Formats: sequence, structure tokens, C-alpha cells
Amino acid sequence: MKKDLLTIYDLDVDGFGEIFKRAERLKGLLRRGVAHESLRGKTLGMLFDKSSTRTRLSFEAGIHQLGGAGIFLSRRDIQLGRGEPVADTARIMSRYIDGIVIRTFEQDLVEEFACYATIPVINGLTDLLHPCQVLSDLFTIVEKKGGYEGLKIAYVGDGNNMTNSWINAAARLPFHLAIACPEGYDPDGYILERGIRESEEGIEFLRTPADAVSGADVIYTDVWASMGQEDEQEERAVAFRGYQVDERLVSYAKDDAIIMHCLPAHRGEEITAGVIDGPNSVIIDQAENRLHVQKAIMEILMSGGSEK
Ligand code: CP
Ligand code: NVA
Repeated sequence: MKKDLLTIYDLDVDGFGEIFKRAERLKGLLRRGVAHESLRGKTLGMLFDKSSTRTRLSFEAGIHQLGGAGIFLSRRDIQLGRGEPVADTARIMSRYIDGIVIRTFEQDLVEEFACYATIPVINGLTDLLHPCQVLSDLFTIVEKKGGYEGLKIAYVGDGNNMTNSWINAAARLPFHLAIACPEGYDPDGYILERGIRESEEGIEFLRTPADAVSGADVIYTDVWASMGQEDEQEERAVAFRGYQVDERLVSYAKDDAIIMHCLPAHRGEEITAGVIDGPNSVIIDQAENRLHVQKAIMEILMSGGSEK
């Protein structure tokens, strides 16, 4: 693996396999109550410019379980928020800590940070991408379906950071991705064009949710208004009419299709309460797996010798 995890493109096929294998082992050790302090004495910085429940907690609990410590940093509290350059911040932090997870708006910021940092930088979500989430989701699919090879994964809703990350994953791994987004809410054009070009099993880009979901093994959705888009909530609710993952839409998928959502969810908007709490939903297991997969990522990226 590369020094950083900023996008799914930082991984090759072996990289995915290594993460999933480690995550499975770490999950088993935790379940059996076996201590595994492979990152003892290491410190993870956690720089968050946006809210988070799962990402923040799973990284902080994860580094703790691996014997290290997490330090939560909000932009408000550090000099970055007062205009200290990203380059200086990255270089200085690299002298104190052993890795950093960053959740922010611009993908450029994590790229710039990684460019100057000598420690691993992990993308904890940007407006463009959410690679840790899609890696946990793929691990969940492996657990539930035995693998992702040849599956049809349907994504219905906003063409956002989750959609972009799914497209990146489909470009790298052999599953078929069918996306349905309303016009005007498409995923990133460059990511989609590249994904379609590189995908082995194909990426379909559609406007009709039923077409995307038809015969699917996995149905995935996310909020209609992401963090930073709260002002657009009302107009989006209109634009996304017909894109709700409800019982009728689910009926187009295979009977044993699993329902996934990265959370937080807005029940009654992008997904009904009946579907999210229904028998085919795997969302709670999916959320749990953030912990195991991110522990695997930290172990791989941060177990090298410390320069501190
Ligand atoms: N799915 C996810 O990243 O959740 P949080 O925003 O709570 O971290
Ligand atoms: N698309 C959502 C994902 C949250 C985990 C957002 O960016 O708010």
C-alpha cells in the first residue's frame, strides 16, 4: 500500500485483500476478548472539520484497542483555523504523531496535507470521497455474500462522495455497479468517465431507480443532502422524489438482496423506516465494520518504525 489512503485508487487488488484479511482477524480477536496491541505507543491525530459519529468513534476506539492513543483536533482549536499553512501544519504534526485521519470539505486539502506530511494520512471523508466507508462496505459484502465478484450493486440517490467512492471501487474490483441519480445530481464527471473506462464488470449510469435495482444483490443509498448542503434540503427533497429506497423499489432486487446505508440516515426521505429496519438490512453490521476495517488500515499504514 502507499503511504496514505486518500482515495480507493491508493490501493491495488492485493491492498484490498490485505485490509479485509486483517479486518477479519482483528474482528475475531476482539470478539474473543484477545488483546492485540500492535500500535502500542503510537498516536493518531484526528482532524475533523465536519460532524461525525461513526468515523470519529471507530478511529478513536480502534487506535485505543490497538494500544495507541487518538487526539481529536477540530480546526477551531488549532492554528490551521487561524490561517497557519497546511504545509507547516503537516510538517509539524509529522514530528509529534504517527498518523492522521482528516475529515474536511476539499479533497485538495487532504492531498496537500499528505504531500507535506511524512506520516500516513487517511481520508475520513471529503466532499468528493469517503474511501474508509466503501472499504468497510465491501468487507461487509464479503461477510454477507461470500465475496463481491460478479455481484450487482445498485446505488440509488445523490451522486455524492459515496457514489464517487463506489465508482472508484468498481473501477478496481470485479463487480457490476448500477447507479441511478436524478438529473443535476450526478457523480463527479471525471471519476465516472474513468470508472466506466476501467471497470471490468461495467458501470451503468441510469435515471430510473427500478432499472438500477432490478436483479441487484446489494441496494445502497445515502442522504439526499450531504454535510454542507443543508440549505438545499428542501429543493433536493423535490428533485429526489421517486428515488426513495422503499419496499416497492426493493421488490425489484433479488429476494436475498442486502440493504446498505453509510448512515446517518433520514428515515422517510432517502429510505423508509421499514426497509432500514427490515430483514434484509445489514446497516448496523455495516456500521460496526468501520471499526474493524479502520483498525486494519491503521495497522497496515502505521506499524512502520517511528521517526519520533
Ligand atoms: N458513515 C459515516 O461516516 O458516519 P459519520 O458521519 O457518523 O462518521
Ligand atoms: N454523503 C454524506 C455521507 C456521510 C457519511 C455526507 O457527506 O454528509
